[in-house]
Amino acid sequence: MKNNKRKNEIIEDFNSSASVFSKWKPSKSFSNIFEKSVLNSLKSLNKSGKIDVLEVGCGHGTWSESINQLDFSKKINYTGIDFSRKRIEAAKKKYIKDKNTKFIVSDYLSYKVNKKYDLIFFIEVFQYIHVNDFSKFFKKTTELLKDQGHIVIIDKEKYSIHSLKIYLGKLFRKLPFYYGHVHYPSFDHLEAFGRSFGLRSVKRIKVKEFNAIIFEAKN
Ligand SMILES: C[S@@+](CC[C@H](N)C(=O)[O-])C[C@H]1O[C@@H](n2cnc3c(N)ncnc32)[C@H](O)[C@@H]1O
Repeated sequence: MKNNKRKNEIIEDFNSSASVFSKWKPSKSFSNIFEKSVLNSLKSLNKSGKIDVLEVGCGHGTWSESINQLDFSKKINYTGIDFSRKRIEAAKKKYIKDKNTKFIVSDYLSYKVNKKYDLIFFIEVFQYIHVNDFSKFFKKTTELLKDQGHIVIIDKEKYSIHSLKIYLGKLFRKLPFYYGHVHYPSFDHLEAFGRSFGLRSVKRIKVKEFNAIIFEAKN
């Protein structure tokens, strides 16, 4: 019940801030960590057949654009899901003309699909997931992943100066309302979770305030 209330508040926050976010573009360091983690993972997965990619919490589809600029993008089937209807509407308006690109309104934990993915990634999504739900997210993700598929998580680190600044900003009410439910994850904790679900931790990357972890499904 508590979890549902929290989820509905997050959806409402993103629905009402969708027009603000639709103008947002990533910083240089953000694009840099995306390239070093998600794009490099895709390059390492570049195989003869199609590459199935799922972005969880895709917002207005920013990262689909970078994926569609890869020289082997024709081989990629990209699906972005987000539980904010308004953000998916914005994504469709901007990027749906890109071939092999699909946007779906769905809560990840209720997302039903008959296929598996080569790559599943989460960018600034774990900051909205309650730590008690981490195991449900890892379980779902390992079930949706192909053998040797990759998972990438990019977020800010719980034990960092940035996180402390956000904590103080919230405490003194200096931040916009949509920071209300932000709690950055600890990457050591994420790594331990991944391992407990049988994943291999391939790499950890840090670029300024951004952190990334790449996991591989062991077969
Ligand atoms: C900070 S935004 C990041 C959006 C996008 N990944 C980006 O980097 O531009 C977090 C997004 O995750 C979505 N989200 C959070 N939890 C989700 C869940 N359980 N299922 C689907 N979407 C979720 C929110 O609606 C929001 O659009």
